[in-house]
Amino acid sequence: MASVTLAPSGQVVEANEGESLLSVILKAIPGFSHKCDGKAQCGSCHIFVLEGRKGLSKTTREENSKLDTIVGVSAKSRLACQSSVLGTENVKVEILSFV
Ligand code: FES
Repeated sequence: MASVTLAPSGQVVEANEGESLLSVILKAIPGFSHKCDGKAQCGSCHIFVLEGRKGLSKTTREENSKLDTIVGVSAKSRLACQSSVLGTENVKVEILSFV
């Protein structure tokens, strides 16, 4: 178990080992955008990881390719649907958009 803090609201959500950030965020924000349903194709689940980056699965080539097409990406960017919580440390993410 690890906790995921959502900024800017400060909400804290418990995450199971191996659970995707998308699944974790949806528990707190049911309307969080995920237009391609987690297939790394739409980019709508783009978030910033503010803390605990090492507590997430590594970025895949597929995720990197999609991130390259998104305006406003930074070194903190991840796709929530492609990031799994490892359970080794707590994570803090910034939610960038709402439906
Ligand atoms: S839900 Fe479409 S890229 Fe994550």
